[in-house]
Amino acid sequence: MINDKKVLFSGMQATGNLTLGNYLGALKNWLTLSDEYECFYSVVDMHSITVRQDPATLRKRARALLTLYIAAGLDPRKNCIYYQSHVSGHAELSWILSCFTYMGELNRMTQFKDKAAKHADNINAGLFTYPVLMAADILLYQADVVPVGIDQMQHLELTRDIAIRFNNVYGDVFTIPEAYVGKVGAKIMSLQDPVKKMSKSDENPNGSIYLMDDPDTIMRKCKRAVTDSESCVAYRDEQPGLKNLINIYCACTEKTPDEAVKEFEGRGYGELKAAVGESVVSILKPLQDEVKRLEKDKAYIDSIIKENAQKAGYYAAKTLRKVQRKVGFPDRIR
Ligand code: TYM
Repeated sequence: MINDKKVLFSGMQATGNLTLGNYLGALKNWLTLSDEYECFYSVVDMHSITVRQDPATLRKRARALLTLYIAAGLDPRKNCIYYQSHVSGHAELSWILSCFTYMGELNRMTQFKDKAAKHADNINAGLFTYPVLMAADILLYQADVVPVGIDQMQHLELTRDIAIRFNNVYGDVFTIPEAYVGKVGAKIMSLQDPVKKMSKSDENPNGSIYLMDDPDTIMRKCKRAVTDSESCVAYRDEQPGLKNLINIYCACTEKTPDEAVKEFEGRGYGELKAAVGESVVSILKPLQDEVKRLEKDKAYIDSIIKENAQKAGYYAAKTLRKVQRKVGFPDRIR
């Protein structure tokens, strides 16, 4: 608990162009939860270097992502929005936790298997221990809740296992975090291949809507979305393209799938696709305008970066000192 509130932690990688999946699966839920919890939202730049990055591009993207969090409506004076690399406790706790994580557990992680296959020339140890750093992110702030998309659930389960294992040895050190997964939007699929997750690293740019896509591009991508030949608007697994479009529509309009199906009963897929496109534009256009406005205010963003690194560092150090004592590291001499 911080200030009598439960704690929320979440983060995103500053790698590639963020997609509508990142927004609907994560960021949107951050907004709804931010009043209720004491929130830490990290730009997880340390995770990004598990895949080779151009330094200047990474720096630029990290700042753009931090700005995006604020542009989306998270008040950075209430929510701790910061760079993971500015708080050394993440790396320090990660080391300790790696001594409580089994190789077999990390070997089972599907994201590791996918990324190792994709980057066969660079299967580095960081890619393998990536979930331990993620566990450290969460446990460092004693988070109660972690809003994520479905693809991160396996990492969250591992985080809980590590925390429980540690607590079994040393007593009640870590809060055991719960995942928060939204009803619709937790798994947005590719518009071109609706059995695959919409992803920043998709080679086909028409499969993903990027958060900075202009309205014409968004409309075009929605209109070209792959559906089926049944010509009947329904919400079911057998029509994955349509189900995905309805999920997007519902996540953007706060309607339920039943309401959406009723609305488009007897109407063609074309009308549904246009409505989906418009609902996405209505969410993304204001976000893009706000990003552009904030980008110009360098001093403001800089002040947020500085203040919040200190705030995050304060809470991180509290947990870290406790953990270091528990495992037997010598006390500091003051
Ligand atoms: P990342 O950067 O890949 O994604 C950020 C968030 O977006 C969600 N997401 C999706 N949700 C729905 N549909 C999709 N197609 C989709 N694609 C992505 C992800 O589930 C995630 O919530 N390892 C994490 C970052 C991280 C983290 C953490 C998250 C590092 N430490 C601690 C939570 C807590 C990642 O790579 O997310």
